[in-house]
Amino acid sequence: MATKIETGKIIGGLSYNDVLLLPLKSKVASRKDADTRTYLTKKVKLNIPIITANMDSVTESHMAIAIARLGGIGIIHRFMHIERQKEEVAKAKRAEGYLIENPYTIRPESTINEARELVEKNGVSGLIVAGNGGKLLGILSGRDMKFAAGNERVRDLMTPRKRLVTGKKGISIDKAAELLASHKVEKLPIVDSMDRLVGLVTAKDAERVLKHDIAAKDGKGRLLVGAAIGIKGDYMERADALLEAEADVLVLDVAHGHSESVISSAKAIKREFPSVQLVIGNVATPEGTRDLIAAGADAVKVGIGPGAACSTRLVTGAGVPQLTAVIWCAEAAREEGIPVIADGGIRNPGDVTKAIVGGASTVMIGSLFAGTDESPGYFIQRKGIKYKAYRGMASLGANISRKQLDNMDINPEDISQIVPEGVESSVPHIGSVKDVVTQLVGGLRSGMSYCGASNLQELYKNGRFIQLTPLGAAESYEKLQ
Ligand code: XMP
Repeated sequence: MATKIETGKIIGGLSYNDVLLLPLKSKVASRKDADTRTYLTKKVKLNIPIITANMDSVTESHMAIAIARLGGIGIIHRFMHIERQKEEVAKAKRAEGYLIENPYTIRPESTINEARELVEKNGVSGLIVAGNGGKLLGILSGRDMKFAAGNERVRDLMTPRKRLVTGKKGISIDKAAELLASHKVEKLPIVDSMDRLVGLVTAKDAERVLKHDIAAKDGKGRLLVGAAIGIKGDYMERADALLEAEADVLVLDVAHGHSESVISSAKAIKREFPSVQLVIGNVATPEGTRDLIAAGADAVKVGIGPGAACSTRLVTGAGVPQLTAVIWCAEAAREEGIPVIADGGIRNPGDVTKAIVGGASTVMIGSLFAGTDESPGYFIQRKGIKYKAYRGMASLGANISRKQLDNMDINPEDISQIVPEGVESSVPHIGSVKDVVTQLVGGLRSGMSYCGASNLQELYKNGRFIQLTPLGAAESYEKLQ
């Protein structure tokens, strides 16, 4: 495979559908045992190689929580105000892990109506009542509020401190679970030696953590989550806020990532936040990959125009067929020990296996997740079928939404000047993220068996492609509907 592109020469490029994987002798006894662990960046590990795309019709906190529970990671999109994106990250970080470090609290003198508002806004079932200096004073549960008129004070309806079971700072998950079970309570506030609230363990979280599951987690048992940033305007402030909310990775994402401005912004981020795990994209050439790695990329995102809602190739004429882009970029990135994300163009489970054989460590997916229960937005009905909107982030609608977000005047003349590089469409309802991941990971595991691989490193090493003729492609893909 050529790694140097010379102006004026035509070179070949392949898409996922141009190849099949050569079946090799299998050493995998049971496909269920195939090991799908991988690296998102040099430091961040995942249990399945799947990332949900940072698009406004794909990933907010619901999606991020769902995919991390299944072993992957979601990247919260950036087309919202900084405070909201920060809160989306915080929601994902709070969703699991046995210790919630900053549980929602309320003051004893607040009213039940204020408590109800807080509960609704944050999607929690109850609140911890804390006084001056964070002193634990009680718990206000959903049940306590159920029949209240609303103007009562929290202190009059809460379960008071003396009737609470609590744990000490530093408590182990086993001890916390034991206390929750023996006292038959749902919430265990954790306090320091001065009886100040330092955290909360819920029965649900303790149960989930103890049940050895596949979720992708940080060192504190919380779900992994990433967040996207751009390269203009308030991107530094955004990065700062997202890291304060403890995003595990930042994804510096622009359509044409191989540019001076991306490189200088990436360097600035790395200078300001030296410990950040930074994904940079998108590129589709080895040169682009090397330049982003030199700018500080901890992973490189690859894909110019393969996405289902992309029109970059039609509008600009530029792009690289995705499998070739992955092979080129992964080859260059592997020299530096940096993982590559194959972003866009995954249509079938077999494409995930092909991307990994091509050298990617993970795949990023938009359209296949856009029709799930967990994606943002609402279902609409058409002829008895439910659909959700799916749009490219460079589509006309997304461009207009961005202007609206910035409170810019929108006049028809400006709109007619926009040259979209994405389309607005809709995708049918396909159930939950779990259903989609079951198919994707099931296909990957079977593909690993066909390639004689028991883990993703072996899959990359052993896998071989066969290039298809048009008849070979027809025989492979034209099947009964
Ligand atoms: P799939 O195929 O999984 O691709 O839907 C998701 C990826 O598509 C990219 N993306 C775009 N590309 N114009 C583009 O050229 C757009 O408007 C656009 N919006 C998203 C992005 O890389 C995403 O992860």
